[in-house]
Amino acid sequence: MKTIDELIQSGVEGKRVFVRADLNVPLEGTTITDDGRIRAVAPTIAKLAEAGAKVIVASHLGRPKGAPEARFSLAPAAARLGEILGKNVSFATDTVGDSAKATVAALANGEVTLLENLRFNAGETSKDDAERGAFADALAALADLYVGDGFGAVHRKHASVYDLPARLPHAAGDLIATEVGVLQKLTEDVARPYVVVLGGAKVSDKLGVIDNLLEKADRILIGGGMSYTFLKAKGHEVGISLLQEDQIPVCLEYLARAEKRGVEFVLPVDVLVSADFPDLKTKAPANPELVASDAIPADKEGLDIGPKTRELYASKLADAGTVFWNGPMGVFEHPDYANGTKAVAQGLLDSDGFTVVGGGDSAAAVRILGFDENAFGHISTGGGASLEYLEGKTLPGLAALED
Ligand code: 3PG
Repeated sequence: MKTIDELIQSGVEGKRVFVRADLNVPLEGTTITDDGRIRAVAPTIAKLAEAGAKVIVASHLGRPKGAPEARFSLAPAAARLGEILGKNVSFATDTVGDSAKATVAALANGEVTLLENLRFNAGETSKDDAERGAFADALAALADLYVGDGFGAVHRKHASVYDLPARLPHAAGDLIATEVGVLQKLTEDVARPYVVVLGGAKVSDKLGVIDNLLEKADRILIGGGMSYTFLKAKGHEVGISLLQEDQIPVCLEYLARAEKRGVEFVLPVDVLVSADFPDLKTKAPANPELVASDAIPADKEGLDIGPKTRELYASKLADAGTVFWNGPMGVFEHPDYANGTKAVAQGLLDSDGFTVVGGGDSAAAVRILGFDENAFGHISTGGGASLEYLEGKTLPGLAALED
């Protein structure tokens, strides 16, 4: 992969450089609640602008269905990017239409613009090669060079991620280079014990990574919504907790494989339960009940790991040489159910090992819960992307950046 420094050395002054970023940030209305992804890609954009490029930044936000939807506008991200860069970032109100063409044409050397949400155009995510290709052609007409730096989206075979770099001279941005370097370390050069903590709602999202990590990790700790399918697989009552009944056979297979390989596969021993899901807006007290994980009442759902599990997981992290963590342990957005996720974050900080927080909700949780993000070895900007990398899959957005 060509680096951005090599691209700059070959001359970018006055050139229109298309930067595919991942500015898919969480929003409450038009307020960005976690700007981590914008801060992560800003150095690449600044570097190109300083070298005199005309920088065209583009991203998706949310999952609109191929047409404009105001709640998914990237306008708030343009304003925040401008604040971070300390310079004006103009905003095109479409992707390849009149506004984009005019905004790009107006760029002077060293200036930056952001296009509207790429997914407002059906060609971006289309499964049809020709439709995606047509959108990529229109994007390519806006630019002279391409920099791929949207790590969070490299697992998507989308027009701006996969088809566009085939149409323009391209390089990988610094964020992608850093992310790939860290994930490579987790696959090739692992200090042991290698402890993996997985949480989040769905077992099905994590099957591939568990399958792969059963061959590599020494310990796998499970929490969050996905743990209830494992508990059910072990024959426990899980009440009205999140459950993917169809995944029980594969959970049983993983538990058996872990035992055979000598991988410690650790499930919660106690959980906080309630009959009601907490109100995340008012954050009114939820009054959870603490029960053993094999005694969840039939009319209640598990919403966080309990204190014994917190202690257990902290002890399993204490001597780790390497930790990869993806997915919260409970409904961390509510203070009554945040302690499990906090305990895992603290466990990573207390370990002397190399610690990686894998994207999405867990990265946002670390920052929202007030932890110093610089104290972790690495916080990935990619949730699904980092999981698919660790599954050993070929990622379209990385393959497209190979020479
Ligand atoms: C993410 O949030 O993981 C990335 O931005 C990719 O988003 P997507 O899952 O909607 O493709």
